[in-house]
Amino acid sequence: MSDPASAAPTQDELKALVGRAALDYVVRGEIVGVGTGSTVNKFIEALATIRNEIKGAVSSSVASTERLRALGIEVFDSNAVDELAVYIDGADEIDGRGHMIKGGGAALTREKIVAAQSRRFVCIADASKRVEVLGAFPLPVEIIPMAARRLMRQFAALGGLAQVREKDGLPLVTDNGQHILDVTGLKIADPLAFESEVNQWPGVVTVGVFAHQKAQVCLLATPEGVQTLRYD
Ligand code: A5P
Repeated sequence: MSDPASAAPTQDELKALVGRAALDYVVRGEIVGVGTGSTVNKFIEALATIRNEIKGAVSSSVASTERLRALGIEVFDSNAVDELAVYIDGADEIDGRGHMIKGGGAALTREKIVAAQSRRFVCIADASKRVEVLGAFPLPVEIIPMAARRLMRQFAALGGLAQVREKDGLPLVTDNGQHILDVTGLKIADPLAFESEVNQWPGVVTVGVFAHQKAQVCLLATPEGVQTLRYD
């Protein structure tokens, strides 16, 4: 519901708006790559309205798979599909070149895998996600648990404070059976170099900077409507 005093759309309404707008990028007759998160959940609801016009989806998380199947959309294993025309996913932050921070929902590894097999990444986000420099949002990093302490020291050397993400008082376990570090205090001025560097630290499964797998398009929901930002 909109706030009646201002009539400004709520964040939930903005997510629904951009979720519906993403349908324009779904190639009919094909399999679509589907991300994870509250914005993508709105997209999945919209996708269900055209489920008879697509073959199905490749999903980036157990949570999205369950939602897709519950709405009657077939989910394919990523290994069963060579290439996807488009991958649609949210972001925690996106800069002016389409580089993103992702992983707030802990699904970053599978998100990067599906993004890598897609010709085009369409990011759906509300305007609060648009930043000049990545790093205000805590950077998620999926790690092998035995490397946690050393990786925390490596981030400290870069000026970052890394903490193991918890759920119900215990380290959160990802869909891949690993843990997440959330790193605050970083300013990521060169996302491509940063992603390459951190990805080769032993024990890192995936860093939540998406610069090599950046967005080509961002559909940004604003109170004035959906803005289309292109980064080709
Ligand atoms: C999931 O791991 C993330 O990468 C999400 O895409 C990101 O956190 C955005 O989520 P929301 O749409 O819920 O803000």
